[in-house]
Amino acid sequence: MAEHLEDIAHRLVAGGKGILAADESNTTIKKRFDAANIENTEENRRDYREMLFSDKETMSQYISGVILYDETIRQKAANGRMLTDIMKEAGSIPGIKVDAGAKALAAFSGEEITEGLDGLRDRLREYHGLGARFAKWRAVINIDKTHLPTIGAVKQNAQALARYAALCQENGIVPIVEPEVLMDGKPGDHSIERSYEVTKFVLDEVFIALRDARILLEGMILKPSMVIEGKNARHSSVEKVAHETVRCLKETTPAAVAGIAFLSGGQSDEEATAHLSAMNAMAPLPWPMTFSYGRALQAAAIAAWGGKKENIAAGQKAFAHRARMNYLAALGKWSRAEEKAA
Ligand code: 13P
Repeated sequence: MAEHLEDIAHRLVAGGKGILAADESNTTIKKRFDAANIENTEENRRDYREMLFSDKETMSQYISGVILYDETIRQKAANGRMLTDIMKEAGSIPGIKVDAGAKALAAFSGEEITEGLDGLRDRLREYHGLGARFAKWRAVINIDKTHLPTIGAVKQNAQALARYAALCQENGIVPIVEPEVLMDGKPGDHSIERSYEVTKFVLDEVFIALRDARILLEGMILKPSMVIEGKNARHSSVEKVAHETVRCLKETTPAAVAGIAFLSGGQSDEEATAHLSAMNAMAPLPWPMTFSYGRALQAAAIAAWGGKKENIAAGQKAFAHRARMNYLAALGKWSRAEEKAA
């Protein structure tokens, strides 16, 4: 396995492959399982993730890396093999979520700060030993039409992202830097213009903090939200979201960054794919742009599986389909016809 930060980062975003964000905490996966009437037990979490990772064809063709949760990186498949070994055999790189979640930010009503810096150096060393070669830290930026986010909250989150990224690189781990401007928060009625303004400000602050922290840009990946209106506002066209997102990234994100891997953030499966494809159709772009989707890669698979052994093939088929659609999108070659044909 490549061990230079630049090589690992490049492998994660190259050739249309993307990242499977399977790092739901036990609380978050409960929400996803609840929606499909699946009991949130350790065994079900294991069986579900084993179903995805052991789909060797899908993993080896479309998935460059998987972001895991602490429980999963230590977990064994039903046959006793480490889940990380199963994904490595398919050519996917294990990654790990290292933040401890977003909590209320003192003195900033309605805003959040991500915790998890204390003891992070030691945890990164342990995760490296467990096979992780990249990590993720998510900052949550609440947005409304006029007041949120505040400058203070954005700066504090940018600094936490930068401190996390520096610790990752010190320990041979590629940081995924994820500042998420929420589209599915409350009230969720902001326009795409407001999303542009806020996303630009956030990314500017994040890159100032990353430079101050001496981050090697070639050895990191940016995981941004797209420039898109809140989920309760009127929808913009696919072309508009794609153009505004690329315009915002070109204004803020140095070309030296190894790649951009988007989150789906509450978009429907097909929207997330259509937006990514429209952006890649605007090539040439300064960086490879791919997916690092959680919900938009997994919702259909969870529903098809439903927690039942006899549905494993159906669950894998649903996963394979979304993975292939997003692979085509990362190459700028997806079309609605492709979606229907499958
Ligand atoms: P979604 O694609 O469901 O937004 O999840 C991606 C992720 O990793 C959020 O932190």
